[in-house]
Amino acid sequence: MQIREAVAADFDWIHEYADTIGGRQVVSRGVLHTLADHPGLIVEADNTPVGYAIYRDEENACELLAIQAIRQWQGYGGALLEALEDRCRRKAVAHIWLCTTNDNLPALKFYQRRGYRLEALNPGAFANVLRLKGLDPQKEVLGIDGVPIRDELVLGKVL
Ligand SMILES: CC(C)(COP(=O)(O)OP(=O)(O)OC[C@H]1O[C@@H](n2cnc3c(N)ncnc32)[C@H](O)[C@@H]1OP(=O)(O)O)[C@@H](O)C(=O)NCCC(=O)NCCS
Repeated sequence: MQIREAVAADFDWIHEYADTIGGRQVVSRGVLHTLADHPGLIVEADNTPVGYAIYRDEENACELLAIQAIRQWQGYGGALLEALEDRCRRKAVAHIWLCTTNDNLPALKFYQRRGYRLEALNPGAFANVLRLKGLDPQKEVLGIDGVPIRDELVLGKVL
C-alpha cells in the first residue's frame, strides 16, 4: 500500500466514487465545499487507487472533507487517516475535524477507534445540506441500513 498526494486527474475517478455516496460537493457546518477545489491524499494498492481523502487547511486545524475506501475494511481508510494526521503533525497543525451524518455508524466506529471524539451535534442540519445543494430540504433521504439522514455529527482529534 502506498500513499501519494492527489493530482487534478485523480478527480475524474474520485468523482465517480463520490457520486455513489455524498456527491462531489459536501456541506459541513453550513458551508458548501467542492471536493476538486481542495488537496487530497490517494492510497494505492498494486499501483491502483483504492481510496482517497480530501481535506481543507484552516489556521491551526484541518478539516477532513471526504474519505472513501473503494474496497472497504481492508485498512485503506485507516492508512489515509494516519497519513493525514502525520501531515498535520509535520505542519504543527493540532486539530483535525470532520462531519458525518447520524446514519453512518460504521464511520462513527472507525473514527472513535482512532481517537476521534464527538465535538458537536447539529440536529436537523441535513435539511440545510439539501437546500445548499439545490435539493428539496423536506426530502427524506435514507442512508446506511435505511436510516433517515437528519443530523450532522462533528468529530475531532487533538494531535
Ligand atoms: C469509513 C471508511 C472511510 C473506513 O475506511 P476502511 O478502509 O473501510 O476502514 P479500515 O479497513 O481502515 O478500518 C475499519 C475498521 O472497521 C473494522 N470492520 C471490518 N468490517 C467492518 C464492517 N463491515 N463494518 C464496520 N467496521 C468493520 C475493521 O476491522 C477495522 O477495525 P479497526 O478499527 O480495529 O482497525 C470506509 O469504510 C468508507 O469508505 N466508507 C464509506 C464512505 C464514508 O462513510 N466515509 C466517511 C464519511 S464521514
